[in-house]
Amino acid sequence: MSALNIIILAAGKGTRMVSTLPKVLHTVAGKPILQHVIDKARALLPQKIIVVYGFGGEHVKHAIAGDDLIWVEQAEQLGTGHAVQQALPYLTDQGQTLILLGDVPLLQVADCQQMLTQAASHLVVQTFIKQDPTGYGRIIRNATNEVTAIVEHKDANSEQRNIQEVNTGIMAMPNHYLKHWISLINNQNAQGEYYLTDIIGLSVQQQLPVYAHLVQDEWAVTGINSKQDLVNIERVAQQRQAQALLAQGVTLLDDQRIDIRGTLTCGKDVSIDINCVFIGDVTLEDGVSIGPHCVIQQAHIGKDTHIEAFSHINQASVGPASHIGPYARLRPGAQLASHTHIGNFVEIKNATIGNGSKVNHLSYVGDASVGADVNIGAGTITCNYDGANKHRTVIEDQVFVGSDTQLIAPVTVGRGATIAAGSTITKDVPADSLTLCRAREQRSITGWKRPQKVKPQSNKHQ
Ligand code: UD1
Ligand code: MG
Repeated sequence: MSALNIIILAAGKGTRMVSTLPKVLHTVAGKPILQHVIDKARALLPQKIIVVYGFGGEHVKHAIAGDDLIWVEQAEQLGTGHAVQQALPYLTDQGQTLILLGDVPLLQVADCQQMLTQAASHLVVQTFIKQDPTGYGRIIRNATNEVTAIVEHKDANSEQRNIQEVNTGIMAMPNHYLKHWISLINNQNAQGEYYLTDIIGLSVQQQLPVYAHLVQDEWAVTGINSKQDLVNIERVAQQRQAQALLAQGVTLLDDQRIDIRGTLTCGKDVSIDINCVFIGDVTLEDGVSIGPHCVIQQAHIGKDTHIEAFSHINQASVGPASHIGPYARLRPGAQLASHTHIGNFVEIKNATIGNGSKVNHLSYVGDASVGADVNIGAGTITCNYDGANKHRTVIEDQVFVGSDTQLIAPVTVGRGATIAAGSTITKDVPADSLTLCRAREQRSITGWKRPQKVKPQSNKHQ
């Protein structure tokens, strides 16, 4: 195939989004709309990708990564033809150009590939049969069904407005023709804009047939103009991701109630209950089950691990055969080895937990190294922060920490040590010992009475 150039038109304002964020930066499935288009463009292995930007330009450039992108500003939005004109100086002399719209995130790479087979020598326009074609450019065909023109809705007569075949906005053509045709278009039309669509008529005038590539999937040609469009596309994108998981053998308790805002990689026999949200790159190995209402972000969950309801995991990893939650919170830097148990209302941050260790109830373990086969009792807190600096707690293998213990870091608890419940540990604890740190005496006062509530005096006879 000859050299491929791709122009992405993304200069439109997107007024109907009613937002200060440029339209193409709103996200679908956790990724900016324009990023979807760029990723699909990259899949076509082009020589160049030129993005025409306008409104919110600097913001858009910063939000979208890629040294391979050529950014071209269209300071004033004078129409799609004018937008393409801005990109012309960057096109290769030979080869072909594919024009994409920056607000159509679900476009199909396969459709573009098919168009490109004809676009080495001809102009190819992508079309779609729209039940309600209002607002779209209509595809005009002659008696022998050849495409002769595109007429914009505002310029169309009533007969033309009945045509349901519309221009999706995606086109491909040889570069030398594109350069020539763009130099010939003008803005003498109902909107006073330079219409890219005028190149169809110019090709026909020059006896060069125009091909139409009719697309069946409506979502592949749907642009986003409003928050309603955005949520419609979001649901379709989510539905498709759920279908892909099901096809691959993942059990979803409800394919309508899962949200993947990034890349979710699943092994065999993974099961996901309702209303879970996966953000960024998440891997669930074979046999993992996720309970309802979990939020899991940038995480790796090992084989046969169960995450129970309402757990929140962010930038953390969990080893195999572990049991997390319900109501567990694993924060950045939590690294759990195999066969660990993290129970309800337990928060783990920047801490390693060794094989077979358990933190089952109401605890905070932060900036800590916890060895293997450790049992941390209910309500234990690693006091890692002195108000200015963070300090580490080290708990060696086979330690037993009694309930309601505070470990004032920096502190090390030696291997096999036991700490009695209710202790405040401020010094290192020797291995294989029992350490207690409580108020010295336990007193009982017999006959002591609880205070009684004093009834307010009634003043209704005053
Ligand atoms: C355009 C097509 C119409 C087609 C429809 C499909 C023209 C003249 N009309 O109409 O045939 O059915 O798309 O959605 O091409 N843009 C710029 N700079 C501009 C104007 C637009 O970059 O000066 C970009 C927009 O950001 C958008 C795309 O081009 O991504 C289409 O622009 P839009 O204003 O939506 O064109 P329509 O009038 O809807
Ligand atoms: Mg439009």
